[in-house]
Amino acid sequence: MGARLVLATRNAHKVGELQAILTDAGVEVTLVGMDAFPDVPEVVEDGLTFEANALKKALETARATGLPAVADDSGLCVDALNGMPGVFSARWSGRHGDDVANLDLVLAQVSQVGDESRGARFECAAALALPSGEAHVVSGRVDGVLIRAPRGTGGFGYDPVFVPHGHERTTAEMSPEEKNAISHRGRAFRALAPAIAHLVVDGRAL
Ligand code: IMP
Repeated sequence: MGARLVLATRNAHKVGELQAILTDAGVEVTLVGMDAFPDVPEVVEDGLTFEANALKKALETARATGLPAVADDSGLCVDALNGMPGVFSARWSGRHGDDVANLDLVLAQVSQVGDESRGARFECAAALALPSGEAHVVSGRVDGVLIRAPRGTGGFGYDPVFVPHGHERTTAEMSPEEKNAISHRGRAFRALAPAIAHLVVDGRAL
């Protein structure tokens, strides 16, 4: 048991994943998801950067729940598409959360792009906010290339077409532990752990 911290998600898997990262980093908090706050409405992600969306979600969640809150925003940035789909990753095909349609559209858009120019990265911004309005944001990324046809059944979203540099398998072919160790989200949350330890566990300013 430690200080309570809200993660701005209704996805229990994400709550478990962040709890494990914080425990590994020696940060003793009790993480709760938004399922504990059924009346708090979903935050609209209308920012143009991952940082803006993560900060907005964390600040609004902290204000609505009266507890320190953590939020993240992430996506795929493709070199040949000038960094898109970026913050539009979840709704690139026009249908929010349709992973297959989003992936198919990105693959079609880069179908004429040569092997030497298929660079891409996953980016994640992770923010911590206090009910007082104090906030802190960090980011993480993993660089790699887009292959031409999906491989693997793990992960979600664009994982079946993304091979991180230094690896031969897609992130959909990795175990969750392997992916967490190198992923944009794993890196961002691990980078946020010291701020959580200072502001939430110790109650000190950074
Ligand atoms: P959100 O941060 O949960 O809003 O996710 C944004 C979107 O980015 C997801 O719907 C996926 O399309 C994509 N995305 C973010 N992280 C990953 C990842 O680790 N693997 C594959 N796709 C991802």
